[in-house]
Amino acid sequence: MSERPRPADSQGKAAATTADDVRARAEALLRQMSPAEKAGQLTQYFYFRLADDATDESALGVDREAQPRAVEEALARGGVGSLLFETDPVHINRLQRLTVEGNRLGIPALFGFDVIHGLRTVFPVPIAMAASWDLDTIEQGQAVAAREARAVGIHWAFAPMVDIARDPRWGRIIEGAGEDPFLGAAVAAAQVRGFQGGDYGQQDRIIAGPKHFAGYGAALGGRDYDEVNLSDHELWNVIFPPFKAAVDAGAGNVMTAYMDLNGVPAGASRWLFTEVLRETWGFEGFVVSDANVVRSLVTHGLAADAPDAAARALSAGVDMEMAIEDAAYAHLPEALEASAVDEQTLDTSVRRILEAKLRLGLFDHPYVDEDRAREVLADPGHREVARVAAERAAVLLRNEGDLLPLDAARLTSLAVIGPLADSPRDTLGPWVFDYDLDETVTVVDGIRRKVGDRVRVDHARGVGVVQRLFPSIFDMHGGNRPEDPQGFDEDTEFRRAVDLAAGADVAVVVAGEWQSMIGEQASRSSLELPGRQLELLQAVVATGTPTVLLVMNGRPLDLRWAAGNVPAILDIWYPGTQGGVAVANLLFGDVSPGGKLPFTWPRTVGQVPMIYSHTRSHEPQNQGRRYWDEASTPLFPFGHGLSYSRFTYSELVVDQASVTPEGDVTVSVRVTNAGDREAMDVVQLYLHQRYGTASRPVRELKGFERVTLAAGASRQVVFPLGPEHRRYWSATTRDWVLDETVFDVWVGGDSTADLSAHFEQRRQKSS
Ligand code: NOJ
Repeated sequence: MSERPRPADSQGKAAATTADDVRARAEALLRQMSPAEKAGQLTQYFYFRLADDATDESALGVDREAQPRAVEEALARGGVGSLLFETDPVHINRLQRLTVEGNRLGIPALFGFDVIHGLRTVFPVPIAMAASWDLDTIEQGQAVAAREARAVGIHWAFAPMVDIARDPRWGRIIEGAGEDPFLGAAVAAAQVRGFQGGDYGQQDRIIAGPKHFAGYGAALGGRDYDEVNLSDHELWNVIFPPFKAAVDAGAGNVMTAYMDLNGVPAGASRWLFTEVLRETWGFEGFVVSDANVVRSLVTHGLAADAPDAAARALSAGVDMEMAIEDAAYAHLPEALEASAVDEQTLDTSVRRILEAKLRLGLFDHPYVDEDRAREVLADPGHREVARVAAERAAVLLRNEGDLLPLDAARLTSLAVIGPLADSPRDTLGPWVFDYDLDETVTVVDGIRRKVGDRVRVDHARGVGVVQRLFPSIFDMHGGNRPEDPQGFDEDTEFRRAVDLAAGADVAVVVAGEWQSMIGEQASRSSLELPGRQLELLQAVVATGTPTVLLVMNGRPLDLRWAAGNVPAILDIWYPGTQGGVAVANLLFGDVSPGGKLPFTWPRTVGQVPMIYSHTRSHEPQNQGRRYWDEASTPLFPFGHGLSYSRFTYSELVVDQASVTPEGDVTVSVRVTNAGDREAMDVVQLYLHQRYGTASRPVRELKGFERVTLAAGASRQVVFPLGPEHRRYWSATTRDWVLDETVFDVWVGGDSTADLSAHFEQRRQKSS
């Protein structure tokens, strides 16, 4: 007897199945499936419905008429287990109907999508969310994204990206939480909780898919997709912790990486997907390849042909193949026939996919309610969460003479300058496709709304857009490629901008990278402000008008000149749908900035990669003089971020002078808002092991808490330091160790904190 879903009803309801029920139903289905049907369940296709505004159909190398047709045919014969890239509930229902009615067993499709920083409500880009160091806000943001996604029929987010990124030339630094494994792990877990809640089978929740396992952020030269060579100690201590945290938080999926890791394509690494992920960490979800990774095993020079690639990937532990067309996994039946894969391996992967579908409740509720989807997408409450997130993400890099916050009552005119200041598309950042530009609030809009008629607000772009030398696949989506207005003349516009600045009480310059310059396939060989933006900033500052620089970015840029010459610099990142509202609230002091940098901000591209958690190495006294032509210190340290108030730290206490390796230590500190207004700070704790079986970083983040304090108020903040905070993977013992040693502790507002204490770690506790 075959299982058929009940007729159309609404998805998003809680799945009423128990774990036993899920297992039994999956098993019953599996027993009825042919090898070809099993291969179908393990195949995921992109579905490219031709967008009205698509400009370049050839960019993906697929025929955009034939590709969706072929996918629909495959769906209708049960050859597909999952689709990605469709976000319209009407089309999702249509495609789901094709699937359910097309396959003999009525198995519904899983719909996946890159829900990276929101769906309709666009949140600040992930690096910005990490800069909030605010785990509740991060979790809430992904909960909103999950609610919108589930409402339209998406069941699974290809997020969070938890790759540690230490080279800002790599464009995908914007998608992660920056350079630090401790912050990265905390942010990864918060995002998984946000997407999945306690169980992704619940209403409004979706599967989280941390990616890209593993090492993708360490591409040679920061060049996207280039090979990666990472030592075991770097993998275990730096790269893996965010993945482990995501798995511990219950992530239902993990995605592979594209590149070669230590000489083996990551997508064929049994060590990664079976030994580390499943056998060591106990991961119980399913693994998906990144797009075309399985076929790429041939391109990389590992597999002989597609059947060989399919057999290798499946045997390594890659359950599902993500493909654009001609999936290699379609060859699994022949691989089975030739004994290149065994049936048990195939069944195990199919079982994982069926169980995920059952847990989601898809068999009982395969379709979505299109009216409800519209309502959920329009929910004003979602915009509020996005606004708060954008406020919390902003990092105040510099504020000489307390130029910020601005006092609207004392201003008569404001010049808002720069090509990004009034660009809705750039305000949203990359990796969004379902946005509404009409409701996106730019910096210019936000300021105008805030000051009304009381202050005159003029805007000039000042400079023209800069085009990429090499466009990416993302540029084919209409609206992603920036354009100057008709009749634009840069010299005339430049002069107009400078004149406006000269005549205004305050100039606000918005500068950075166009959103198409950062993200996937958006690596750069330089960190300079593209085009004539620096020249424009210099000309504005030269007018003598007090100038605020708002940086719109997803990576650190070369701000050496600005850091010495522009009194106020606020990093607003790509702040999302409500960006302009948040920025205006920050500029005029309705809220004080409290974000902190999740990466070390280098002075120049020649310094990268640059991290705060380097080892002491040889001649540490010359750490700042490692180059003869430029200081080898950062422009802004990791964890840096000012507020409109001032915080002091005192009473640092470690509750024990000596701890055993298994024991717990508690560190407490008093943080005081010594200024005259309410503000937020992120209290950070850093640890250093003085000696042991390997050299350890000069400092490593091991605790943080974002606090809000009224003027003059103070609070004790307590950090636990358990064995898990003190252990590390030693290249000497080739295992996790807790050395006998002495630890230094620092607590403060960034990674240069100087309030310190120490304690010992001894097998025999000294009395
Ligand atoms: C390729 C990217 O590397 C991955 O992060 C993304 O999820 C897939 N494409 C699907 O869009």
